[in-house]
Amino acid sequence: MGSYISKLQPIKVGSEITSNVVLSKLAINEQHGENLLYFDGWKAYNKDPFHLVNNPNGVIQLGLAENQLSIDRIEDWIKRNPKASICTHEGIECFRRITNFQDYHGLPEFTTGIAKHMEKTRHGKVNFDSKRIVMAGGATGANETLIFCLANRGDAFLVPTPYYPGFNRDLCWRTGVQLVPISCNSSNNFKITLEALKEAYEKGQQEKIKIKGLILTNPSNPLGTTLDRDTLKNILIFTNEHNINLVCDEIYAGTVFDAPRFVSIAEIIEDDGVCVNKNLIHIVSSLSKDMGFPGFRVGIVYSFNDDVVNCARKMSSFGLVSTETQNSLASMLSQDEFIEEYLTENTKRLRKRHDKFTSGLEKIGIKCLKSNAGLYCWVDLRTLLKEPTLDAEVSLWKLIINNAKLNISPGSSFNCPEAGWFRICFANIDDRTVEIALKRIQIFVDANNNINENGIVKNASVKGK
Ligand SMILES: Cc1ncc(COP(=O)(O)O)c(C=O)c1O
Repeated sequence: MGSYISKLQPIKVGSEITSNVVLSKLAINEQHGENLLYFDGWKAYNKDPFHLVNNPNGVIQLGLAENQLSIDRIEDWIKRNPKASICTHEGIECFRRITNFQDYHGLPEFTTGIAKHMEKTRHGKVNFDSKRIVMAGGATGANETLIFCLANRGDAFLVPTPYYPGFNRDLCWRTGVQLVPISCNSSNNFKITLEALKEAYEKGQQEKIKIKGLILTNPSNPLGTTLDRDTLKNILIFTNEHNINLVCDEIYAGTVFDAPRFVSIAEIIEDDGVCVNKNLIHIVSSLSKDMGFPGFRVGIVYSFNDDVVNCARKMSSFGLVSTETQNSLASMLSQDEFIEEYLTENTKRLRKRHDKFTSGLEKIGIKCLKSNAGLYCWVDLRTLLKEPTLDAEVSLWKLIINNAKLNISPGSSFNCPEAGWFRICFANIDDRTVEIALKRIQIFVDANNNINENGIVKNASVKGK
């Protein structure tokens, strides 16, 4: 007994306390991605979070792609619809029926509501079949589920750069799948060219990696751009010709605030003259961005392939959306007028915020990639680099966190091959905080020409700003 207890005592290795439990290879592999600077920035924010009144000199979180601009509309709806929750006096009559339900097909009113919502965020240009809606724990779970269904350990997926840092965790960590980057850069505004696509595919083949598919994020995170019809068609023809899967992460479909409008892959496959194997096409959707519900963990796998739908549904047992969430959202999504009004108002607010932020940056002399979607902009800070290297990008990022007290995300976290690009989120803070952030950027840029020999920016303190 004594020796059993001592085995569980924590032991000290280096500076870290650890137990002597031997973790699995999967548990200790580094693909979880949390060692990226992207997450280090979040830690810096968590240690010293900015608050307008309580901590005005703290770190401002500009690294979180969260939409808080229209949450008041949702709160109003909840107040007007107490019956939508089974945990209210008004809704309790459904308590037993809902809490006892655990079918992985989901509540029919929920899957119907989701299919309808996917149609609305694609402007009614396509229809979605509610029987193909598979639940997952956010788009995070949906993306992983699809990879589990489509690829074996060691296989690979092509992915255009720059891409969402969470993909390392979501697509690779537990599946053992690799990502092969399709290199895109600023010379053509990070467009995905056929040449870059072929180059990545051939590189995979030379290295004897089995390419099972390509994953697109449209609208893009981090670029904030939407893919045009021709690019989508070219990619689709390419994947079809090579008989590989095309996964389209469309979680920002309803987060497009300017022309051109969003075009879903579901629309392209219906275009005249496009003849492809639909079994290779899969869409990932979620309510995390368009509705601002990342905490509800509603992710969707929508596949045109029956086998994938069936397999993903079995796997969804590991990440079902709770029935209370399904029930409440079914009620909300069934109210067409509310959802349409919400989406329109949210788009208006996003456009206003985007314009305020980008015009503020422009006044400071900072340019962004022209964008029409997303909760962030892709900012060109190349002129602030000491030299055009990824090391210099990291140094600049550290200065921005430590001196300007702003958590922005360096391009290297997004696997951007070109140094000096940063993603700055603008929809998770209020107007006053935007103004303070812009002021801090201005002070930082002004002081940047005044760096002392230790690399410390003079006169860049945020105090009192
Ligand atoms: C492209 C992309 N896919 C997936 C996710 C994960 O979304 P969820 O919160 O629905 O898991 C994110 C979150 O930022 C994202 O940007």
